[in-house]
Amino acid sequence: MSLSFRSLGEDHLKEILTLESLCFPGEEWTEKMIQTHLEFHVAFGMGNPEIQCYALVCETPWEIEIFRIATLPKFRKLGLAKQLLEQLFQKFPKKEFFLEVKESNEPAIKLYLSAGFFELERRKKYYPDGSTAVLMKRNPIE
Ligand SMILES: CC(C)(COP(=O)(O)OP(=O)(O)OC[C@H]1O[C@@H](n2cnc3c(N)ncnc32)[C@H](O)[C@@H]1OP(=O)(O)O)[C@@H](O)C(=O)NCCC(=O)NCCS
Repeated sequence: MSLSFRSLGEDHLKEILTLESLCFPGEEWTEKMIQTHLEFHVAFGMGNPEIQCYALVCETPWEIEIFRIATLPKFRKLGLAKQLLEQLFQKFPKKEFFLEVKESNEPAIKLYLSAGFFELERRKKYYPDGSTAVLMKRNPIE
């Protein structure tokens, strides 16, 4: 069955809210944050029929910043997030990709390294809990 990579919009607000609570327990974005994101930025999902993996993304004329990417717990380590990233690279082939990740988030860092990101720098005490951010970049595919 196709994984159905697709754009998500304001119609998906409630579904994204549920995904956030399942994927980021205790750190989920609020309805207002997701609503604002969908108003000004873009989102993508994969999974058929339910969304199994999604990304909240900011597109500028020069670059793509990935704010959030997550896979539902029961579908993890099946290659979904890597496929979603590959779809984003294909969709925005001329753009540089950036993201920040907590240095303690080993699964996410492994995913990003495996998808071609490299570390640019570390920012200490970046997050509200005092943890360090790893800033990562991926060069355009074209
Ligand atoms: C990080 C996350 C998105 C990975 O999603 P996933 O669909 O399980 O990742 P994939 O199956 O596509 O794995 C891609 C690569 O990362 C590696 N990886 C993923 N999870 C891993 C883990 N828990 N431990 C070690 N490596 C891991 C895979 O082995 C794979 O490597 P490979 O390409 O060399 O085979 C998922 O764990 C998640 O949703 N975490 C909670 C939300 C989060 O922290 N998001 C990132 C910050 S916004």
